[in-house]
Amino acid sequence: MRKLLIAANWKMYKTPAESTAFLTSFFPLVKNNTAAEIVLCPAMPCLPAVVDAARGKSVSVGAQNMHWHNEGAYTGETSPTMITAIGATHVLIGHSERRQYFNETDTTVNLKLKAALAHSLVPIVCVGEHLNEREQNLTADVLNLQISVALEGIKPEALGPLVIAYEPVWAIGTGRTATPEIAEDAHKIIRAKIAAIAGSDVADSTRILYGGSVKPDNAGSLCCLDDIDGALVGGASLDPDSFAKIITNATTR
Ligand code: PGA
Repeated sequence: MRKLLIAANWKMYKTPAESTAFLTSFFPLVKNNTAAEIVLCPAMPCLPAVVDAARGKSVSVGAQNMHWHNEGAYTGETSPTMITAIGATHVLIGHSERRQYFNETDTTVNLKLKAALAHSLVPIVCVGEHLNEREQNLTADVLNLQISVALEGIKPEALGPLVIAYEPVWAIGTGRTATPEIAEDAHKIIRAKIAAIAGSDVADSTRILYGGSVKPDNAGSLCCLDDIDGALVGGASLDPDSFAKIITNATTR
């Protein structure tokens, strides 16, 4: 059984003080949750405060990005060693905003995935098609290519911690959520590709999250489907009540 994972991507929102204020309101709302793993991914400067505040709570903390080298002359970058030293346990890799605005490619996603696994960070690798690709019936091709390059050169036995987030680019921050059928179809394509590359055991145990305008009112209908193992939530994770409702609705299935 794959345990549901609900992750918050705070993007470039919240100062350290705002992050801890969120946690003060949020923890009581999810104190009885055991059905889902909860991961918060704040901006890099907020990681230490969020890791401290989350200690002893059943909430994990992740970075939104990282470099693949342990150290070096890479101004502005953060290494896996630094992220693990802070106490974060997860990392988002290849978010579409990184691909769109910061030259992230499938090749750098592959390097970052290898680095995350080598440092025992749980990688949440984001994939997804643009609207024009969907309209041209290219969704399966895009997803298959993103997954195959991301996993290139990684032994199946190393892929245990892998999490994939399917985030159709046209659904991110637009209020236009994929229907549960569209999401489930894409998740099946991704799982089949993982099976073809790394075998069915890896594919069956890999959690595939849906992301893109997840809100309290659609979290239940998405997360109740067989191939949808949780959600990566942007905008609706910034408010403690709304994020807690997403967790409650996703786990009441
Ligand atoms: P959204 O963002 O929930 O605001 O659409 C999701 C994401 O970008 O991870």
